Amino acid sequence: MRGGFPIDICQPGHYKTLLTIERESSSGSFAVGGTIKLITNIESMQEEANRLLEAGKTIVLVPTMGFLHEGHLALMREGRKHGDVLTISIFVNPTQFGQNEDFNTYPRDLKRDMNLAESVGVDIVFAPTAEAMYEKGYQTYVNLEVLPRYLCGISRPGHFRGVATVVTKLFNIVKPRVAIFGEKDYQQLVIIRRMVKDLNFDIRIIGVPTVREADGLATSSRNTYLSQEERDSALCLYQSLQLAAEKIARGTRNADELIDAASRLIRSHPDTRIDYVAFCDPETLENVERIDRPTLMALAVWVGKTRLIDNAVLKP
Ligand code: PAJ
Repeated sequence: MRGGFPIDICQPGHYKTLLTIERESSSGSFAVGGTIKLITNIESMQEEANRLLEAGKTIVLVPTMGFLHEGHLALMREGRKHGDVLTISIFVNPTQFGQNEDFNTYPRDLKRDMNLAESVGVDIVFAPTAEAMYEKGYQTYVNLEVLPRYLCGISRPGHFRGVATVVTKLFNIVKPRVAIFGEKDYQQLVIIRRMVKDLNFDIRIIGVPTVREADGLATSSRNTYLSQEERDSALCLYQSLQLAAEKIARGTRNADELIDAASRLIRSHPDTRIDYVAFCDPETLENVERIDRPTLMALAVWVGKTRLIDNAVLKP
């Protein structure tokens, strides 16, 4: 069914039921508990955005793939400050996953996510289906020429094409004035900023510093894959950033020397395999050999079957 979407007012704690009913009837939007609204239909989201814009409201968007954690919530708290209507998207985007990646096993729990989103003052959760986002015959993609050639783009070909495409679609559906992204995915943030500039999106992009667990591990939905032993090994990413920061503070300037030290540290942890350890320009992502200005240290490490990333901008 398209058009004439019913709007039901329901009690909190019934999101799963709601979603089932909603998916069955392919209907539009639900005001849940009178405060947070779940919208799963693209046209309904666009209509809601149009209504809000006509009423002079500023829409803020926090795009996510769900299974929300403190990192996501920090983005939402930041988002609350920048507009009237805080919208988050929850969509595990198939086009940014490679063939042998974890699309099917990626953790999903909409009910839990709705409760967390409500607790930080989210107004609208937009959670479309993959079938609606990529209809039969879909063939339009957004591709950046250079930035995806570095770092994660090397071992994840096509990943940033999927990210740039879905973020463009979300911008066109949710119509935000401001969008919030995490520095945890630093390359993604640089790519989104470049794309917004290149394609003249009238949207302000705000980056939020990485949220970490008490021991320094960057919070991530993929941390749920780790066993206790792997969780211990995973600390090697943060420790590498710290080691490099200390060495730079003590005068080391040679990037290769820092990469060697970080690699040794990582390899000393069981079950780890390095994808990359790199020093690069924080804007162009080009390789840096001498650390004589603020430099991005970025790393990706496999811990067992889980690929983790982390980064920091280090200053001499
Ligand atoms: P996802 O991994 O769910 O992350 C959503 C947003 O949360 C991203 O902007 C990410 O950088 C941010 N984030 C994740 N962990 C964080 C942490 N520990 N501290 C601060 N921010 C953190 O990134 C994606 O989804 C997708 O690629 C998406 C942009 C939604 C497009 O599909």
